[in-house]
Amino acid sequence: MLKVGLLSFLTVAAALHAETGYDAWLRYAPLEGVALDQFRQAVPAVVSVLDQTPVATTARAEIVRGMKGMLGRTLREESALPRENAILIGTVSEIRRAAPGLIPDVALPTDAFWLKSATHGSQHFIVIAASGDRGLLYGAFALLRKVAFGETVAVLDQRETPYAAVRWVNHWDRLDGSIERGYGGNSIFWEHDHARHDLTRVSDYGRLLASLGINGCSINNVNADPRLLTPEYTPEIARIADALRPWGVRVAISVDFGSPQSVGHLDTFDPLDPRVAAWWKARVDELYSAVPDLAGIVLKADSEGRVGPSAYNRTHADAANVVARALAPHSGLLFYRGFVYDHHMDWRNLKNDRGRAAYDNFHSLDGQFDLNVIIQIKNGPIDFQVREPASPLFGGLEKTNEAIELQVTQEYFGQAKHTVFLVPYWKETLDFDMHAAASGDSTVKALVAGKTFHRPTGGFVGVVNAGLDDNWFGNHLSQSNLYGYGRLAWNPDLSAQKIDDEWTRLTFGPNPKVDQTIAQIQLTSWRTYENYTGPLGLQTLTDITGNHYGVNVEASERNGWGQWHRADESGVGMDRTVATGTGYIGQYRPAVAARFESLATCPDDLLLFLHHVPYTYKLHSGKTVIQYIYDSHYEGAEAVAAYVEQWKSLRGLIDEQRYNDVLTQLEYQAGQAVVWRDAVTTWFARASKIPDARGRVDHYPGRVEAESMTLEGYTVRDISAPTPGRANAPPIATPSEDASGGKVVTCPAGTKSCTASMKFTGEPGWYTLRVEYFDQANGVSHYRVRVGGQLIDQWAADLRLPTVRLDSTSSTRHSISGIALRPGDEIRIEGIPDGGELAALDYLEVVPERRSQ
Ligand code: GCU
Repeated sequence: MLKVGLLSFLTVAAALHAETGYDAWLRYAPLEGVALDQFRQAVPAVVSVLDQTPVATTARAEIVRGMKGMLGRTLREESALPRENAILIGTVSEIRRAAPGLIPDVALPTDAFWLKSATHGSQHFIVIAASGDRGLLYGAFALLRKVAFGETVAVLDQRETPYAAVRWVNHWDRLDGSIERGYGGNSIFWEHDHARHDLTRVSDYGRLLASLGINGCSINNVNADPRLLTPEYTPEIARIADALRPWGVRVAISVDFGSPQSVGHLDTFDPLDPRVAAWWKARVDELYSAVPDLAGIVLKADSEGRVGPSAYNRTHADAANVVARALAPHSGLLFYRGFVYDHHMDWRNLKNDRGRAAYDNFHSLDGQFDLNVIIQIKNGPIDFQVREPASPLFGGLEKTNEAIELQVTQEYFGQAKHTVFLVPYWKETLDFDMHAAASGDSTVKALVAGKTFHRPTGGFVGVVNAGLDDNWFGNHLSQSNLYGYGRLAWNPDLSAQKIDDEWTRLTFGPNPKVDQTIAQIQLTSWRTYENYTGPLGLQTLTDITGNHYGVNVEASERNGWGQWHRADESGVGMDRTVATGTGYIGQYRPAVAARFESLATCPDDLLLFLHHVPYTYKLHSGKTVIQYIYDSHYEGAEAVAAYVEQWKSLRGLIDEQRYNDVLTQLEYQAGQAVVWRDAVTTWFARASKIPDARGRVDHYPGRVEAESMTLEGYTVRDISAPTPGRANAPPIATPSEDASGGKVVTCPAGTKSCTASMKFTGEPGWYTLRVEYFDQANGVSHYRVRVGGQLIDQWAADLRLPTVRLDSTSSTRHSISGIALRPGDEIRIEGIPDGGELAALDYLEVVPERRSQ
């Protein structure tokens, strides 16, 4: 394969200009040097489409757009067999009709494409063939990717077939324009309870989806607003469908199961009541008259307060089938979410286990679901935690269609403020062998694609909360998760490395140094995040009853939500064994269950998800569990600090705007990793009463607590005490480990400013100052730092963090490097509060810089 991309990287830097990230991986950045010359030779001047559907026409337009961007040439658009060399786009039958013999008569599967060099007399064609128009569009994107990667297009014979039929995204957008678990701005679909007036963004988003082969998109929250099923909204759904249709993306909606009653004014929503069935049928028929290609409906029932069939003692199959039967005449699919569990479980009963819920609810119904029902199963048995085993339900359904639900939006993964490339995680689940069939492939990917048990349909669903932010997600690197999701849904056998490499080259340009550096960060980022947020299968140790962002080890326990880790003074982990625990492990097929049940064979990474052990239990490495918890948190925090340095090495190699944006984000993440490290290790040191063998926990070199500085105006308080004067102070106290030493200083609201100062007593030299402060969401405080009276830095606490509280979520680090200090220098921090935000401080660290820094 001819690779010319690498040759051109030296000249790319010259062309750098500020980029917002809006174009994501579809930038079509100009090629230069040898690559440009070669592709100008190889790419003909004409692009013709034989198929006149909107999607096929889009394919032609995309080729024109891409070639113009990369080669600086505008291809001529035609609609018949050209009389000169051309890129020829058409279904196999159209092409054969126009030019019999140009390509052989092959039956390509749905959505597959074929890139083929072909000769007709003296003419040369680059043929993009498919069986339908979506395949043509996917082929066009594939051809453009080849050009961007510098792969030859002179001799082509490449066929690709998607691994699964269902390659969907779900959005959790509310009609008011907010997004449940969205971190990149408001909805691109909705605002003020209506579809947005301007849907350009939706169309641009459709283009991103189409470039990955995604063919379905649900446009509202699974916690569905019943109003969407009122006739008033039908034209609005139709407008959104119109915006996505040219990209081959079909719209779906989420519905509320109580709709026959709440919207239809029946006195029931019992799925077995014929009036209810008739209501669903009539409503669905009306939807199809406005949106004839509606892809289907997503249903969350009997889950987290949503009504469901249990109200009438009916089964999930009854519920799914009543809606599915309304969809069937239109070939629509009904996605029934497997995320059904009791969130009022008694935590005192050690046999209770939310992890069992999906299997317990659905396994016994296998075979009772209609053919157009798909059970949509989250990757793990709990809820998108930092690590979970593959849900046993994947292996528990043989006569039912399945889809895996992966969360592209980083809810429990740092909410787009932390870099976590999720592809390695997803691949681990997709490649997991459930040993579900006596012979053949029963990996999770094969099961969901319907290959193992020969199901008519199935596949992939990604929860994507793209928003109105320029870069769609609030963080440039988070785009790689949508890219990676789409590529895996198309071909789950692609390696994480390959996907990252593709994404990096398309997003930042073909520079080997950029490639390598970003790969170093991305491919280790899941492990790094796990190291500081929840190693060994503990799950994300976050505030699970609140914002799912900051650290809160206690929050999982003593409530009905069932995300228990059972950490106490004697040990840690959830006993899910068959022998002594909840029996969850018994939901796997024997080969898997045996491996998980035995401590000797249970993988360390899942140990505490599956077993309860003493803190002194030795892992396969010989390290104790408690020491691993300490060490992994330090390793995780150090790894993020290293990411900052690695990223800095890219200065000048990528455009300044994205360089700076990512640098700021990684610096913030490095600070947050320390907040997590300190809180989790302090908590476990207190619980286990076993000190860190390396003496790090609770000993922080260079750290000066704000409460021990000289304070003017600031008052000292326990972080776990409620904010004074706040009528709606939250009922749950902030854990004391959220602040170093358990204390913070706050500047009372209405005060002009407060100061905290100290005299430096160390060796003269160069230092970095790290100020740990609190960036609450109810104001924009300002901070100024002076050394010996000289102002050395100032900043505003204006990040979008999801809390008004003083806690680990608002705890934020600001670093000031390159400061010369002499003994006796006064370091003074001034805080200027604003609104409800109290310019609070936790500590100051004075860290000597290495000579080379
Ligand atoms: C998580 C998430 C909720 C969401 C739910 C779901 O629990 O926090 O916001 O509604 O998953 O998947 O239905």
